[in-house]
Amino acid sequence: MKSFSVALALIAPVQAGLRFGCSSLTTQRLDPVVEPGNIPSSHVHHIIGGNAFNATMTGDVGERATCTTCEMSEDFSNYWTAVLYFKHPINGSYHRVPVINNAALATGTTGGMTIYYTQHDFYSDNLKNQPITAFPPGFRMTVGDPTTNTHEEAKAHVGLRYNCLNTLLDRGPELVDLPDRPCPAGIFAIHHFPACWDGKNLDSPDHQSHMFNTIKYDGFMNAPPCPASHPVRMPQLAYETVWDTTKFHSMWPAGTPNPFVWSFEGTRGYGTHADYLFGWEGDSLQRAMNKSECFYDGCGSIKKQPMSIANKCTVEDLVGEDTVGWLTSLPGQA
Ligand SMILES: *[C@@H]1O[C@H](CO)[C@@H](O)[C@H](O)[C@H]1NC(C)=O
Ligand SMILES: *[C@@H]1O[C@H](CO)[C@@H](O)[C@H](O)[C@H]1NC(C)=O
Ligand SMILES: *[C@@H]1O[C@H](CO)[C@@H](O)[C@H](O)[C@H]1NC(C)=O
Repeated sequence: MKSFSVALALIAPVQAGLRFGCSSLTTQRLDPVVEPGNIPSSHVHHIIGGNAFNATMTGDVGERATCTTCEMSEDFSNYWTAVLYFKHPINGSYHRVPVINNAALATGTTGGMTIYYTQHDFYSDNLKNQPITAFPPGFRMTVGDPTTNTHEEAKAHVGLRYNCLNTLLDRGPELVDLPDRPCPAGIFAIHHFPACWDGKNLDSPDHQSHMFNTIKYDGFMNAPPCPASHPVRMPQLAYETVWDTTKFHSMWPAGTPNPFVWSFEGTRGYGTHADYLFGWEGDSLQRAMNKSECFYDGCGSIKKQPMSIANKCTVEDLVGEDTVGWLTSLPGQA
């Protein structure tokens, strides 16, 4: 169902929302939401977005950052997920899986992720019935949990799925776990966040309970109304990442289990998770969310930059360890 809607979105202008690419910013062990101040944090992350990214992040990031790897030049948010590694089935060494571009992104996008902020679903904005409130400065949240280890729990995280790619546009069915066979065009990981806010807290102790999810099946479809406990409808945020597993296939003996693991040593895909730290400048995201009947660029309400400029945005590597490989253990997991 989801791959159907995404394919349509790529060929026809649909209503309501933003879809854009951000190049990779950095890959290191930092996590300003879950482990603020820790240099290094417990596991490796793949991070995109603004250059205010740091071990600790407070206040209005959109005011502080001076560049972003995102095509939307007013978006200084940071977006990150765990990193996929290949664990060699014979000798147990690890190698980081490279990230490649998704389909239909701006020329020059390098790795990174595809980011969506939708209002209602792919086909309508429904702003009359359901106004969208942009995230406020300082807002942050996570979705998923590295300790999730059963199929049932993972299935209940409706926004967190994989596809075994035949091609970038032929994604095949959604999977709850990592694919159990080599995927011709890599592994597609998707993270949908909840969209209902309690209206008060920029964060919560578990980084999740200030938000509430009403999607039952698929984050790109129409979400039921927000409950009284979390009454404020925010943009439906989603990340897509394409992990290019293909160069490891020759080292994956036929009939043996999936050799790809997340950077927290998750041998099943169930612990997939993602973090968001809001950083749009001024009212730019709200401006886009107030527009109807257009997609991709918020009806021209958002400034874009060439990816050649976006790709010049960098941050310091505060940890300074090899995260690529071949490694005898995953960074932080020895
Ligand atoms: C990161 O945080 C450190 C310590 O607070 C600070 O000295 C440094 O300037 C920050 N870097 C950026 C890019 O904000
Ligand atoms: C494991 O195999 C890979 C691929 O052949 C190799 O590059 C790596 O050095 C090996 N690791 C060890 C510990 O032998
Ligand atoms: C967005 O729409 C709301 C409701 O119509 C309005 O109050 C607000 O000023 C608008 N914000 C922007 C930035 O356009």
